[in-house]
Amino acid sequence: MCFLTFLLFNVTAPLCYWEWSGFSEIDNERNLIMDIMPSADTVVSNLNILSTLFVSALGLGVLFIAILFIIDVNQTQDAIRRNYPVFGRFRYIFSTLGEFFRQYFFAMDREEMPFNRAERDWVDRAAKGHDNTIAFGSTKNLTPAGTVIFINCPFPTLDKDAVDMQPLEIGPFCKQPYNAPSFFNISGMSYGALSTPAVRALSKGARVAGCWMNTGEGGLSPHHLEGGCDIVMQIGTAKYGVRDAQGNLCDEKLRQVAAHTQVRMFELKMSQGAKPGKGGILPGIKVTAEIATIRGIPEGEDSISPNRHPEIDSVGDMLDMIGHIRDVTGKPVGFKSVMGSFGWIREMCEEIHIRGIETAPDFITIDSGDGGTGAAPMPLMDNVGLIIKESLPLVSDILHHYGLRDRIRLISSGKLITPSEVAWALATGADFVTSARGFMFSLGCIQALKCNKNTCPTGITTHNARLQKGLNPIDKAVKVASYCSNIIHEVHIISHSCGVVRPRLMGRKHIRIVQENGKSVPMDELYPRPDILPEYMGLAVNPSPDEENGGYCV
Ligand SMILES: Cc1cc2nc3c(=O)[nH]c(=O)nc-3n(C[C@H](O)[C@H](O)[C@H](O)COP(=O)(O)O)c2cc1C
Repeated sequence: MCFLTFLLFNVTAPLCYWEWSGFSEIDNERNLIMDIMPSADTVVSNLNILSTLFVSALGLGVLFIAILFIIDVNQTQDAIRRNYPVFGRFRYIFSTLGEFFRQYFFAMDREEMPFNRAERDWVDRAAKGHDNTIAFGSTKNLTPAGTVIFINCPFPTLDKDAVDMQPLEIGPFCKQPYNAPSFFNISGMSYGALSTPAVRALSKGARVAGCWMNTGEGGLSPHHLEGGCDIVMQIGTAKYGVRDAQGNLCDEKLRQVAAHTQVRMFELKMSQGAKPGKGGILPGIKVTAEIATIRGIPEGEDSISPNRHPEIDSVGDMLDMIGHIRDVTGKPVGFKSVMGSFGWIREMCEEIHIRGIETAPDFITIDSGDGGTGAAPMPLMDNVGLIIKESLPLVSDILHHYGLRDRIRLISSGKLITPSEVAWALATGADFVTSARGFMFSLGCIQALKCNKNTCPTGITTHNARLQKGLNPIDKAVKVASYCSNIIHEVHIISHSCGVVRPRLMGRKHIRIVQENGKSVPMDELYPRPDILPEYMGLAVNPSPDEENGGYCV
């Protein structure tokens, strides 16, 4: 740019002058211009400098290409670069740039994975509190098998008859049960995977929205507490935040964490959808003084998360651990798992009936096999663990069959980031829905897929102070709260359209699922509720008032 301006001035100015001098009258102004005009000698010498610079740059360019050529033909790691020296490098440049071009220019609204543009835009508008209506017609293809269609009622619920969201009790046998106000909440993401401003924004936003925030397995940090929201403390396999020096569960630490009134529940992480059976190493370089204090590990040393809780080898062990944490903390305790098989859930139900229903987990969080993570191996992410569409109805039915559906609350997670997905989960059997990536989008995540690289451009999953600057916790907290309340609002709208007065009154009979042949089938035909075993009839403890769904319209 500078070069062009310089050239333009030097070449055009004298020409303009010669042009003007053809006029008979030369006024003072022109004289003045002449004075500041460079002389012909100056122009020639400038052109000389420029041409020398140009030739040198060209020479350097050729030299650079020659060096790349020599490097490429002599290296042995990369066949493309060896066979096509220099040109082969464009392949890597283009495939990196391709990520951006596809997202911005080429991918259709409903094409991208894991979340398409239509879904991300919905969250973005909900977070910003913008009008979330769309024009002209749906861009969603409604014919593929598995598509969910809600059954609208010819006489929808009038606004005046609609009922606000009701709190739901978790852990009726605990000293301090939790009356959870919101059916939509923030899923576990550890401090460490998330940056400080991201955790602060989520904490403040959750407080405003009245939803809970799960700490993830990295322990409870002051940033989680800062906003004053309800907190679910997750206990991962390394027991970060509640461990002794050897990595065993420490009762004293448990009591300290439970002493925070904000901490409402404890979640034992058995597995996570994106990486079931996977542990990990937190490299010493990431174990700063702050992380070391929060997690209860030595500063600067590698820290290992085992790939399961070493002391939990059976359903009985798991119930023992859950009972122990509940006794020590006095608060509801449940577990999080992605489903593969279901036999162990049946076994758990039978064991609960032997021990007494007060020994049951107070909740189960079912994570989808296609759930998110900061980092995981692709095979585990892609092909291990069932997706929530299949596992949620089956787990819900098993609990129902054993008369435990009201005793154990069901929380579901996994790509449930828009109102229709949340409504599907509630109608299918979930009492609560949690989301991680939905809330990341509300923080400004652009799906750059860099969570594992410390280069997150939006400052959400990076510890780079420069990148974190873009994330203002106060501003983003408003967006977090707005996203949550817009989800809740639109789930209510779906329920009213189905003819019930509030979302938890929706059931499987309000849903049809499109089949391979293009016809849709009622979901309660695909997944009929099993009968409760006779010996467990009448076991309902504080039943959800929603068990028998309304449904005048169905
Ligand atoms: C950055 C990130 C960090 C996560 N950290 C944890 C964690 O510490 N513990 C856990 O159980 N799940 C963790 N998860 C998984 C989420 O809690 C959630 O189960 C999963 O992403 C599915 O929900 P989503 O589809 O709404 O993201 C993490 C997910 C993300 C994206």
